[in-house]
Amino acid sequence: MSQREVWSSKIGFILAAAGSAVGLGNIWKFPYITGVHGGGAFVLVYLIAILLVGLPIMIAEIYIGKTTQKNPVGAFKDVTKNSNFLTKLAKLSPIAGFLGVLSGILILSFYSVVAGWTLHFLFLSFKGFSGSKEVIEGHFNHLYSTPSIMILWHTILMIIVVLIILKGVQKGIEKASKIMMPLLIFILFTLMIYSIFNGGSGEAFRFMFYPDFSKLNAEAIIQALGHAFFTLSLGMGVMITYGSYLKNDISIVKSSVLVSFIDTFIALLAGMVIFPIVFSSGLEASSGPSLIFKTLPTLFAKITSGSIISIMFFLLLFFAALTSAISLLEVVVVYFVDERKWSRKKGTIILGVTIYLLGVLSAIPKITIGKESVLDFLDNVTTKYMLPFGGLLTILIFAYFIPLKSIREELKLSKFIFYSFVWICRVVTPTLLIWVILNKIGFI
Ligand code: TRP
Repeated sequence: MSQREVWSSKIGFILAAAGSAVGLGNIWKFPYITGVHGGGAFVLVYLIAILLVGLPIMIAEIYIGKTTQKNPVGAFKDVTKNSNFLTKLAKLSPIAGFLGVLSGILILSFYSVVAGWTLHFLFLSFKGFSGSKEVIEGHFNHLYSTPSIMILWHTILMIIVVLIILKGVQKGIEKASKIMMPLLIFILFTLMIYSIFNGGSGEAFRFMFYPDFSKLNAEAIIQALGHAFFTLSLGMGVMITYGSYLKNDISIVKSSVLVSFIDTFIALLAGMVIFPIVFSSGLEASSGPSLIFKTLPTLFAKITSGSIISIMFFLLLFFAALTSAISLLEVVVVYFVDERKWSRKKGTIILGVTIYLLGVLSAIPKITIGKESVLDFLDNVTTKYMLPFGGLLTILIFAYFIPLKSIREELKLSKFIFYSFVWICRVVTPTLLIWVILNKIGFI
């Protein structure tokens, strides 16, 4: 077997993992759900959710990847090998890996279509937004009702993703992340400075950081928990896969904390960019999913240097989406490379094409499953059910089936911190996740 690739440096791994985590979820979804749920109190719950749900699962996934050096299916098989707890049940653990690979295929198929929207808006930004509110808001409606345009951008996006994954871990994923992540952070800072100088940031700051608990309800808490999980790309083996390319001298706990921190920081920054613009123009923070593709372009048309700002903004979204998309394809490809002995080239092309074709269905809103478009259907099935369930299996396998001694040796935590961590992983995280899942399937 050929030698498994490794990251060339620690920073390469951190940027790739952060690249996967930082996506449309941070820049598009986080600001809009914060807006819908009334700001500060929601942000606080979200931060707690990152600590109690996100971070433990991140540590579990990177641990499973790093110690086995395998794809999610192989990794779950290996990691439970020496388990003496419910041995028969432990043998079923690779199911978690299969679920991850399947989620990867489904998510990338529609994520690529949405990422394509960012390219379309980037293209529109170069032409500049102008005209009445109806005209500008019409761009999104026009895009959404013209499958050929969506398919065109989806095609371009999948080609870029495939080309990066063909190049492998160091020359592909790591290099792409090392270029795009610093640019992303640079753009975000520039936009934030712009926002601060153009007013509204005091109000935005208050909105995001002053908790008004009267606005908090169970639904907001469930959203926060679900999002904490989604935003860190957990529950389908991305961090297992990326962890499997780690060399021995890297600390799992420190890396997980750093990646979670970068992801959270970028989500908060995105809020600090978007809300001031929204407030200073007297718009509603709670306008929902269309906040980015409809509300913001109307503003870009009005403000000075709006076209530069909008180019930067959609470039930012595009980078964020692309680094997440490559991680999705990597998980799927490396499973076929490891377990089915395919070459990287064969795997990338066959799976890239398959996912591309599946994605075409999401680009045609007329095709429906039940009452939903394929895009909404896949989005719901994966993010509401498959990912949380995958995450639940991961944390249960990690906390109950792997000998604690092995975990403690690897994580190198002091006794008190280690046992508190184990308690969180065994009790707190699974309970919260089960609560979220039961809520989503309408059980509670
Ligand atoms: N974390 C990504 C975001 O914030 C979305 C995401 C969820 C994801 N699960 C994933 C990306 C798995 C890649 C792999 O937008």
